[in-house]
Amino acid sequence: MSIDYTQLIPNNVDLASDRRLQRALENWQPRFLDWWKGMGPDGTLNFDVYLRTAVSTDANGWAHFGHVKMPEYRWGIFLADRDPERTIAFGDHKGKPAWQEVPGELRSTLRRLIVTQGDTEPASVEQQRLLGGTAPSLYDLRNLFQVNVEEGRHLWAMVYLLHAYFGRDGREEAEAMLERHSGDPDKPRILGAFNEKTPDWLSFFMFTFFTDRDGKYQLASLAESGFDPLSRTCRFMLTEEAHHMFVGESGVGRIVQRTAELMREHRTDDLRALGAIDLPTIQRYLNFHFSVSLDLFGQEASTNAANYYTQGVKGRFLETRIDDDHVLAGAAYEIEVAEEGRIVRKAVPALHALNERLRTDYVEDCAKGVLRWNKILERAGVAFELKLPHRGFNRRIGAFADRRISPDGKLLSEADWQARVAGWLPTDEDRAYITSLMGPAVVQPGKYAHWIAPPARGINNQAADFEYVRFN
Ligand SMILES: [Fe+2]
Ligand SMILES: [Fe+2]
Repeated sequence: MSIDYTQLIPNNVDLASDRRLQRALENWQPRFLDWWKGMGPDGTLNFDVYLRTAVSTDANGWAHFGHVKMPEYRWGIFLADRDPERTIAFGDHKGKPAWQEVPGELRSTLRRLIVTQGDTEPASVEQQRLLGGTAPSLYDLRNLFQVNVEEGRHLWAMVYLLHAYFGRDGREEAEAMLERHSGDPDKPRILGAFNEKTPDWLSFFMFTFFTDRDGKYQLASLAESGFDPLSRTCRFMLTEEAHHMFVGESGVGRIVQRTAELMREHRTDDLRALGAIDLPTIQRYLNFHFSVSLDLFGQEASTNAANYYTQGVKGRFLETRIDDDHVLAGAAYEIEVAEEGRIVRKAVPALHALNERLRTDYVEDCAKGVLRWNKILERAGVAFELKLPHRGFNRRIGAFADRRISPDGKLLSEADWQARVAGWLPTDEDRAYITSLMGPAVVQPGKYAHWIAPPARGINNQAADFEYVRFN
């Protein structure tokens, strides 16, 4: 179904045919806008930003680009097209038609999953709200705002499900989405990584590479859900999410490129003397954001994950492309655990290991990006390799949470850890240095901060000096 832009809330779910639902969402809309104005990108209400807006949910050619004042961005409800033949691909209900309504016994489970996912969306906007003041270019400023408006839309995506399928409880959850805030001591966001600060652009790029990628894997497994409206919502969100990860990967890549150019030109690795970012600091930021994002996948062995799967609410990454019985009753899966002073592999029931399996898919995906960053170094003739740390490194959740593990996967004593951690995680000094590089925002079209290379091409193939953001 095409998107109806004549409505107050653009949508492709025929909202006009359900007056009650439409009114409820039109009531929530001004509260969302108040939240955006108070907690969204700081001081930007008059900026004209070159943004893409969804005009259809086709994978090809779904976006329209043009300058928009951000508060006038048309946040709406866009679900991927319904496949009337779709069946549930896994678990106890395998082969039955996908559910168009919430099965009574899965109501609270589904609500919790939707709320947990939905809560991350506005959280990241809050985390990033001050970054505009130190943008390294108009191009980057535009990308930040594009990510921000789309995270706002992802909140809409989840709030629509809550309003449409969960009655009064759902409406209350939708309100609470705007009441919790990232880092708020009284009402924090639900997940730890979304209460961390994103204080600088290196952190922002790492966040969009690592943490938005967690979002990709969560959305992909929810896109397999037997609850069809959730599946269809997540499918379209994934289309938008791809750009966020591009912003992260290319952002870090451009920093790496600039660093490599300066190292060659000046034959030094004292990048700080040159006002750029040294590779060990980039590695420490990588270690931090990777480990914090790994925690988002939850416990290695989890009965919740097993239940979600068996009940048909949350599948595996690309479930339908996996060649097995999609029930996993007797199957085993190997996970890593710390035992007797070392890390060993241990077989557990595959159903219980679904979080770990998803985490493994995620780690492999991250590794491909790191490989591309290393290619940049290699091409520049710089002998340095960025690496993903061991998955047990710096973890707060799961089997490694109360262990000290080095980036190369060795169990350490507390004393060893304390002696070496400054080489592995960003120090106060690192953070102060990165902060010192930030800002004020570079606002001349085509100009870039010293510590980052320009992108290979413009957004939507715009010229190098294109005015992505106009200030009024
Ligand atoms: Fe999102
Ligand atoms: Fe995202």
